[in-house]
Amino acid sequence: MKLLIFCDPGIDDAMALIYALLHPKIEVLGLVCSYGNVDKITAAYNTAHILQLAGRMDIPIFNGAEMPVSGELANYYPEIHGEDGIGPIKVKKASYQFRIRNLGEVFEIIKRNKDLVIADLGRSTTLAACFLLNREVMREVKELHIMGGAFMVPGNVTPVAEANFFGDPTSANLLLAHGKKVFLTPLNVTQKAIITNDHAEALEYYTKNIFKEMYVPIINYYAKAYSKLLPGIEGAPFHDLLTVYSAAHPERMQYLAKKVHVVVEGKTRGKSFADFRHMNVENESKHHIALGFDYEHFLQEVFQILTRPL
Ligand code: RIB
Ligand code: CA
Repeated sequence: MKLLIFCDPGIDDAMALIYALLHPKIEVLGLVCSYGNVDKITAAYNTAHILQLAGRMDIPIFNGAEMPVSGELANYYPEIHGEDGIGPIKVKKASYQFRIRNLGEVFEIIKRNKDLVIADLGRSTTLAACFLLNREVMREVKELHIMGGAFMVPGNVTPVAEANFFGDPTSANLLLAHGKKVFLTPLNVTQKAIITNDHAEALEYYTKNIFKEMYVPIINYYAKAYSKLLPGIEGAPFHDLLTVYSAAHPERMQYLAKKVHVVVEGKTRGKSFADFRHMNVENESKHHIALGFDYEHFLQEVFQILTRPL
């Protein structure tokens, strides 16, 4: 699978990038870094850090948005992902030299790769901007896999809204309107993609690659943050990791085709909704909402991929 990733690393983004880079069947063609968990420059350095560890600085990093289309300044989330985005890890910016490429260059990648899949792991702004700039080329993208929304469960950033859709609901609606085939990996499934401190230790023990040292610190950090957000939770939900997994393993996901809309303003801003009155009846919709997944397989796969040699 040829994959272009839009991200804001972020601990769960970082784990999703590592999974994609280590996966023998995923070819990462580019990474677009935007505001979200951290500012976009910090997101780009965190991405460069992961690429450097993987020995893949040949993969281009693209310039994403620094705020939503509303023009509001972005809110960051140091209490969840740490001051610098990947928990306790401090990326020494001065020791990285890389070029952040113009966003427009992603269209060349899309034109050259007919079966390209996009995973959007952050706010929807930059991917929506790609549609604004070049809708014709964006219609060539085979599938969009978006981490966003929450269906029939509470939100995480407000009582009703998930952080990515809350961050830029207008752009989220634009993706839903113009994406050719849209797969949503919302909070109702991602919050079940739990990785615990015990899993982290097992990962560290069995890992045969350079990411070995990262797993325990970042998973424990994320789990500690979640223990304050959701008292009683064991471990933390790896939203973005599940989203990339869903693109690689559609056969392990349960989707329902229903037209989705996101509330743009007011108290319910960012709330995603669909008509679930007839749960068993699929609508004629290009929107596919994940309602379930095979957690046992997800865990097995995470172990198999994250521990393998580079
Ligand atoms: O709501 C979870 C999403 O918000 C994830 O993508 C996380 O990384 C943050 O961006
Ligand atoms: Ca993210």
